[in-house]
Amino acid sequence: MIKFLDLHKINARFQHEFQKSFNTFLDSGHYVLGKSVSNFENEFANYCGANHCIGTSNGLDALTLIFKGFIALNKLSVGNEVIVPANTYIASILSVINSGLKPVFVEPNPETFNIESSNIETAITPNTKAILMVHLYGQLCSNSVSQIAKKHNLLVIEDAAQAHGAVSSSGLKAGNLSHAAAFSFYPSKNLGALGDAGAITTNNKALYHVICKLRNYGSSVKYINEIVGYNNRLDEVQAAFLSIKLKALDRDNLKRQEIALTYLKEIKNTAVELPVLTSNVESHVWHVFVVLVKNRAHFVDYLEQHNIQTLIHYPIPPHKQEALASYTNLELPITEHIHNSCVSLPISPVMTIEETNRVILIVNSYNA
Ligand SMILES: Cc1ncc(COP(=O)(O)O)c(C=O)c1O
Repeated sequence: MIKFLDLHKINARFQHEFQKSFNTFLDSGHYVLGKSVSNFENEFANYCGANHCIGTSNGLDALTLIFKGFIALNKLSVGNEVIVPANTYIASILSVINSGLKPVFVEPNPETFNIESSNIETAITPNTKAILMVHLYGQLCSNSVSQIAKKHNLLVIEDAAQAHGAVSSSGLKAGNLSHAAAFSFYPSKNLGALGDAGAITTNNKALYHVICKLRNYGSSVKYINEIVGYNNRLDEVQAAFLSIKLKALDRDNLKRQEIALTYLKEIKNTAVELPVLTSNVESHVWHVFVVLVKNRAHFVDYLEQHNIQTLIHYPIPPHKQEALASYTNLELPITEHIHNSCVSLPISPVMTIEETNRVILIVNSYNA
């Protein structure tokens, strides 16, 4: 069986380093917001080229803390509209709603799957104050999103949960392309912890300070609470594991890029629509390799019969989820088409050349 993603194999590479770091953690006797979190925050800020990093409990909390931070700084107000991509994982939208803001859904570009810049301006109203750009599937959004934001004096927030290490054509990394960025280190991400974890990067000092308080009961000095906060801290053990895995991120992304470029070159089947790389090779870190097919169930079944595991990112678009029933009547045909026909092929840093070639052979032999 060619697994979609072999998480055990990915993490087994670091087993001895993990064990050593756990022993150091155990011996330290300091288990919350200790050295491992602050070390990782410094390393990840440096990696992204951002001035500040704040470790958080997960990616959704990271996104939500950014919005709540801007509200605390009076840069956003409850009820403001935030432009969001309709084609995303529901967490992006939930962060806006959970912060008391209003998501305004914008259709994607059918080739890149990311928010289509030319659709943004018509969605802007006097109440629009921010754009959430999601680098979906690992590909950076077009830099025209930031240009539109600048023109309309809007905040830009990155959902970089799927794009750790992606580099723009101007050499800037995901996490340093906006006013603030959120990352998820959910185990299956390009940089994945061994449990829930997340982070925020920003160059905004005031936002950094307010989010540090928000994630820790509104406090920067123990038992002194300045604002109404939360407990959204990054765990020490996960931070230590992430520091170990961060050193391998560029190498792992390179491996994903190699596999993706091989797929793009070698998969030749008119029934299988391939994803489009729109900019420099480094601007896509291929968190997932998504193809579109007409008869998805048939294609998935066929691959399964040939021992190739696939996943669907994602089967139901956010506006069609029961949780977001008030948005169900929105007309978002491109988003719905992607969600109805997308299939993610196996891709990972531990996938072998033989496995890659086998996927290509089987996909090329598919008869729709
Ligand atoms: C695009 C996107 N945004 C946000 C999240 C939320 O991250 P987490 O699962 O760590 O809360 C995820 C991950 O699942 C994601 O893929």
